Amino acid sequence: MVSRLSSSQSPLSSSIPPNVTRLPASVTDLLCCVSHEISIIENELTIEEISPLLEDAIDDGFMVVDLGVLEKKLKAWHLLFSPLLHNHNKYDNKNERSDSYDYTVTPYFAVKCNSDPIVVEWLARTASMMNLPLGYDCASIAELEMAKVQIQKYSLEKTGDSYKINNQNNDDDDDNRIFNKRNIPTTRIVYANPQRAEADLMHALELFATMKVNSEKESDDSSRLPLQQSREELWLTLDGVSEVYKIAAARKLFLEKHNTLQIPKVRIVLRIWVPDKHSRVPLGEKFGMRMEEINNIVETCLKSEILAEDIIGISFHCGSGCSSVETYYEALEMGRKALLTIDNRLSQYYRKEEEENQKKIQQKLPESQKQYKRHRCWLLDIGGGFPGIDGLHGDDGRFSAISKEENATDLLKKTVTAQDTQTTVADIAIAVAPVLQSLTNHKHKDEDKDSLSLTLIAEPGRYFVEGAVALASRIYQK
Ligand SMILES: Cc1ncc(COP(=O)(O)O)c(C=O)c1O
Repeated sequence: MVSRLSSSQSPLSSSIPPNVTRLPASVTDLLCCVSHEISIIENELTIEEISPLLEDAIDDGFMVVDLGVLEKKLKAWHLLFSPLLHNHNKYDNKNERSDSYDYTVTPYFAVKCNSDPIVVEWLARTASMMNLPLGYDCASIAELEMAKVQIQKYSLEKTGDSYKINNQNNDDDDDNRIFNKRNIPTTRIVYANPQRAEADLMHALELFATMKVNSEKESDDSSRLPLQQSREELWLTLDGVSEVYKIAAARKLFLEKHNTLQIPKVRIVLRIWVPDKHSRVPLGEKFGMRMEEINNIVETCLKSEILAEDIIGISFHCGSGCSSVETYYEALEMGRKALLTIDNRLSQYYRKEEEENQKKIQQKLPESQKQYKRHRCWLLDIGGGFPGIDGLHGDDGRFSAISKEENATDLLKKTVTAQDTQTTVADIAIAVAPVLQSLTNHKHKDEDKDSLSLTLIAEPGRYFVEGAVALASRIYQK
């Protein structure tokens, strides 16, 4: 059972939903909070209100979640990883190095880390109210369904689109600058389980399917609702050839079964293996292809009717609770090489296709006039693994109704104190910033400067929930 609690000073808690409890001022820490919850169950609820679930909670233990911490974590993430969104002094302070950074890393919360519906919804609600980019990394159909509902409910696909900088209390003209957010994807779900059943893939396709336009019906019935919706995308990570066959089989099944539904566009993100030995939970045994397997897997995709243009990028995961900045460096370098490997392989493929076309129409162009399409991956997913400690003290005052609410700028001003010896997310974010910037700027030599730059996303799980959740358990014997 999860008890839902919100820090009373939270800026978003003014209109809290009925299933969320506001802490009274007498609650000052975790222990107070747990006693408060127990006393509500034991003393304040009527017999009818006490469900077997609540009774069990007292005996078996329960979790408390400080939703205010989730809010601070989302804010802290973007302060650390999305300089584009908060560089409000950009034009005043040209000499500061960080001012030249203009990327965003959209976090796709790994739902498996805490799939409590309130946690999933609270993040969506926060993202929507603060206009911060957020998505979900889902491992199962239930998670996909839950994420999809929240994305629709809070119009998440639009968050971060046009961002009023320092949006809280500043009316300065500068603060109304609207950035071009082409690097923030509108698809906010990635289905990232390494081994999915064919039936689940089929179900996922159905979940993102849209109605086909029915032209006959259209002319007959002028009062009908619009049937055409824009085609949705299903983003799938890919760890090996067996998944390619399953995706192909699921697509075939879908097309046989549904002639009124439009199949979603399947976008493929190849997941590579990266070193994970500095992590509390290494994941390298569970997923990730080796670099030398990339070409073969790309080949298999093409043979299985996955379009070259739908192979959009690379993802990796450094293992959960990664304490090494170097591991992220190494993984980013491997990611860069993997992106180039795909681009080169698929550019060769386009070239071969074009040459065959030219042969067919017996066109012989001089070499200087030949122009071949280039493949350009546009997504880099830097995975999860980030520690629970953000380095900005985002979970200070958790479970405390009297905790002082900070605004975004206060959070950023906080510095890591001398006692903080563990690697924090701030350490990682600061260290990899130049690499992320160079990756987003990266262009092939022959590309025009307006071509799309790399979009960055991540799949943090532990980062969001480790500090926000505590387990309360009865001690029967000492
Ligand atoms: C594919 C995938 N993405 C993201 C995560 C979340 O990782 P973390 O909690 O370390 O951020 C996991 C965790 O197992 C995972 O398997």
